[in-house]
Amino acid sequence: MILVLDFGSQYNQLITRRIREFGVYSELHSHKMTAEEIKKLNPKGIILSGGPHSVYGENSFRPDEGIFDLDIPILGICYGMQLMALHYGGKVERSKNREYGKALIDLERQPVLFKDTPASQTVWMSHGDKVTAVPEGFQVDATSSSTPIASMSNTNKKLYGVQFHPEVRHSEYGNDVLRNFVFHVCESAGDWTIENFIEQEMANIRSKVGDKKVLCALSGGVDSSVVAALIHKAIGDQLTCIFVDHGLLRKNEADDVMKVFADDFHMNIIKIDAKDRFLSKLKGVDDPEKKRKIIGNEFIYVFDDEAAKLKDMDFLAQGTLYTDIIESGTETAQTIKSHHNVGGLPEDMQFELIEPLNTLFKDEVRELGTQLGIPDHIVWRQPFPGPGLAIRVLGEVTEEKLEMVRESDAILREEIALAGLDRDIWQYFTVLPNIRSVGVMGDARTYDYTIGIRAVTSIDGMTSDWARIPWDVLEKISTRIVNEVDHINRVVYDVTSKPPATIEWE
Ligand code: XMP
Repeated sequence: MILVLDFGSQYNQLITRRIREFGVYSELHSHKMTAEEIKKLNPKGIILSGGPHSVYGENSFRPDEGIFDLDIPILGICYGMQLMALHYGGKVERSKNREYGKALIDLERQPVLFKDTPASQTVWMSHGDKVTAVPEGFQVDATSSSTPIASMSNTNKKLYGVQFHPEVRHSEYGNDVLRNFVFHVCESAGDWTIENFIEQEMANIRSKVGDKKVLCALSGGVDSSVVAALIHKAIGDQLTCIFVDHGLLRKNEADDVMKVFADDFHMNIIKIDAKDRFLSKLKGVDDPEKKRKIIGNEFIYVFDDEAAKLKDMDFLAQGTLYTDIIESGTETAQTIKSHHNVGGLPEDMQFELIEPLNTLFKDEVRELGTQLGIPDHIVWRQPFPGPGLAIRVLGEVTEEKLEMVRESDAILREEIALAGLDRDIWQYFTVLPNIRSVGVMGDARTYDYTIGIRAVTSIDGMTSDWARIPWDVLEKISTRIVNEVDHINRVVYDVTSKPPATIEWE
């Protein structure tokens, strides 16, 4: 295991990612972790990350200095290198100007960190302070015109520092540098795979749960599906899932979830058909935020009612991911985004939490899902909001309007898949703006509803661009929707990015 200590750089998750891609398990932890705690984790190497602060700044983040006495190889990146230099008696100077962007470094020597990389290479710099004198016992390994000490090492003690960011793709040989540290300095084995994650995690789940029982809220989304499948593989019938069908899911979705998990996986699933309950609560409500609140609360009531009927449940399984923890957990992270847990379960529930995915990234969860035999349409399911189709029917939600969205959405999804675009587009769906317009069908005048198509590309849903679906594909979708969905006589395509629009229409 390679431990990455987080000093707040925006690139920190990337370091962990890169290392896992080498087949070496890596975790990112707060810089506040003590030397004693680190010793218990027994990492093969420690990486001190970069960070936005100056080492001389008030409140600047500092590690437990005891980490330098653990006799574990250390790589300091940027701010991390400066911390290392200070600890061993080197000199770090503040500079007024930040160096930001690509830079060329020249190797003075070729310690194992730069093994098989060229004498001159492009790297990505992003720093204010810099090391101006290396500590005793250290040597300068690389220089650049603006940063004379771009890299340093004390190879006897297996201590390395780089002023640049090897984890950023713009550092031409950055991956090699990280690889060299992980394999040649730390001598990691490189045998971490999703298969042995499954074995390891099943053993953890069994020892944690013993002969007790676990409850899981299954939504049919990727995370809750994978969590349920993994726990089921570990403890079989000790797991019970509650699947609340609020009637706001897409076409065939509820049946499909039941088919996969109840029929094929033979899981204990209690399906709650709560469609009428939700629709009656939504009657007459047209404000989007009110709709969200009603659905969120109702979900909790339904779940609570069912959970209360089940006796002796001790654990509640949740599909919390590593990114959820990093984003909301470490005080050092710069971009903090709130995240929703499964359905927003009540806080006063008397369960112990079990969160077996909380060390994984989304793509690792997908790979895990595939390895567990979950079909592609669930593993690669696009993000789908908790309030479901209720926020895609603008204004008041009625069964008739839900049907128009459900049917048109099914056509859109079918055609996007046929065109082979389903993994390129982040989200694609139809909405029913609450408008009717005049049309002509056959020889008759119509006065019917409009369907809007929304399709966006995005990395994380925070910003997005409208997807350039080819005209001929759009044409086919539009024709099919008007011909096959009752009460629709017009189809429009949303060509707005986010910002200024949002992905959903409500
Ligand atoms: P917006 O519309 O804010 O959406 O650009 C960004 C992402 O979040 C999803 N979304 C929601 N997810 N509950 C959820 O669980 C919600 O109320 C909700 N509203 C939006 C949206 O589908 C997109 O992926």
